[in-house]
Amino acid sequence: MYSQRPQPLQFSWLAILFCVLFAINLLGGMAHAETADVVNEARQEELKHLLRHDCGSCHGMTLKGGLGPALSKQRLADKPDDFITYTILYGRTGTAMPPWQGILSEADARWLATYIKANGPEKGDQ
Ligand code: HEC
Repeated sequence: MYSQRPQPLQFSWLAILFCVLFAINLLGGMAHAETADVVNEARQEELKHLLRHDCGSCHGMTLKGGLGPALSKQRLADKPDDFITYTILYGRTGTAMPPWQGILSEADARWLATYIKANGPEKGDQ
């Protein structure tokens, strides 16, 4: 009679252990999936640097325009995010706008597109 008591208790501890392991596994999987198309903070800094120096060589250091047009909020406001993203990724055939695929992932290009639309030329320099 006494010897049967501990059994249910042992079973529930095992069940909890399995649940915890399962949850950790699930969370780990989710974190891993995220890294594929989320632009983390370090990458965002790299992209801002690229925008100023590489894109800036044509669009102007402050993106007010040069060889390429100004990348201002006002000019881009009515252009869809996809359109800007794909312009960045694939360039514009027959113009100086080069394709950035290979250097930038689609997530990078999309982040840049929304960043440019939100910020445009640097503040105080418009
Ligand atoms: C070698 C010069 C050059 C470089 C470098 C360059 N661009 Fe361009 N870009 C252009 C030109 C020229 C155009 C205009 C193309 C046209 O006439 O449609 C353009 C167009 C664009 C457009 C479309 C603007 C609009 O109003 O439709 C976007 C967005 C853009 N560039 C973003 C970028 C970004 C972001 C980078 C850096 C990752 C970059 N460009 C680097 C020359 C350049």
